[in-house]
Amino acid sequence: MSLVYHAQAVVIRLLTWLYDLLQLGAVFDAFLKVVMRVTELDVVPDFIIRRGIRLLLKIRLQSMAGSLEQQLERKMAFVQELKCLPVAVQTAAANEQHYEVPTEYFVLVLGRHLKYSSCLYNNPGEGLNEAERNMLALCCARARLADGQSVLELGCGWGSMSLFMAQAFPNSSITAVSNSSTQREFIQRRARDLDVRNLTVITADMVDFQAPSTYDRIVSIEMFEHMKNYAELMRRISTWLKPGGALFVHIFCHKSNPYHFEVKDESDWMARYFFSGGTMPSLDLLLYFQQHLALQQQWWVNGCHYSRTLEAWLVNQDKFRKAIMPIFAQTYGRDEALKWFVYWRLFYLACSELFNYNGGEEWGVGHYLFMKPAAAAASKAA
Ligand SMILES: C[S@@+](CC[C@H](N)C(=O)[O-])C[C@H]1O[C@@H](n2cnc3c(N)ncnc32)[C@H](O)[C@@H]1O
Repeated sequence: MSLVYHAQAVVIRLLTWLYDLLQLGAVFDAFLKVVMRVTELDVVPDFIIRRGIRLLLKIRLQSMAGSLEQQLERKMAFVQELKCLPVAVQTAAANEQHYEVPTEYFVLVLGRHLKYSSCLYNNPGEGLNEAERNMLALCCARARLADGQSVLELGCGWGSMSLFMAQAFPNSSITAVSNSSTQREFIQRRARDLDVRNLTVITADMVDFQAPSTYDRIVSIEMFEHMKNYAELMRRISTWLKPGGALFVHIFCHKSNPYHFEVKDESDWMARYFFSGGTMPSLDLLLYFQQHLALQQQWWVNGCHYSRTLEAWLVNQDKFRKAIMPIFAQTYGRDEALKWFVYWRLFYLACSELFNYNGGEEWGVGHYLFMKPAAAAASKAA
């Protein structure tokens, strides 16, 4: 097995070398364009698509390889680069790609809590709804939430965590923020239906958001991947926390190498259609931005949990195809509906394969708890 693996790695390295030597970039690009046009017709079986995705992932890993010295040098350059960028870039494009797609679509594809992020499968027999709840409960515990606190959620999606917190902690006051007005409308409707009264929802772009108060806890689940300047973001967040308050962050990440989602060629399909301006953090990336908030605890969640989550979304996408097609016709235009149905399937397939790679030990989920020093400690430090 390992012999086959090493042989494949050598072949890929040879091909990469030949590719550079013969400047085959344009040919590869043209080939991928043809592959995409065929795939858009919804005629390629999933097992072939999955194989292609795994090959592209192998190539990506090869391109990130190098000595430890080289990898660290690249990471330090990445950290420096982030510090010079705005808090987030291309925010309108990313918002349009996902978060302003009609909510009816996500109601069909996601679980009961509409959690648009990794879930947690504690047992093999568990379904999507239980897995959503497991991860929400784990995040509450790791964020050290307790009844009576004031909590701000950054990047609230369709309210999975905010509504869960509001119900679990009825004496807490929860404020949820995202840049999508359709998300706010949905959460407010659901809060009314559930008779939840301790939740406020704000629509704002993180680039210029100013928190209206200070909080005991700030939580953020899979929003940091849309951000760039973590130094500035963490500085701002520290000013929105009360002394002794804590920030809990859940991100997806690669175990060691961070990168940007950039459109360089046709293989960067994800960056082009689904994740413009996005970042793939490394597990340790946020640790380089502790000027104002100090890490208390860090956890790794194996990527297989995210892969199973994505497979469940894919099953729903296929199950509700009849209901989804008219939503896509209305969103993307009648002529483009099938193409986008295929693109969303590809998105779930590609992400599932990514998180499943190497048994979920290559890409996965990072959890972090950062504390703002209590007032006395802060003044001593100053
Ligand atoms: C992957 S979703 C996660 C949603 C939610 N936390 C969950 O777990 O279901 C990312 C969220 O971040 C929000 N977001 C992305 N970029 C943003 C920005 N620039 N400003 C404010 N919110 C943003 C999106 O609207 C969305 O609500």
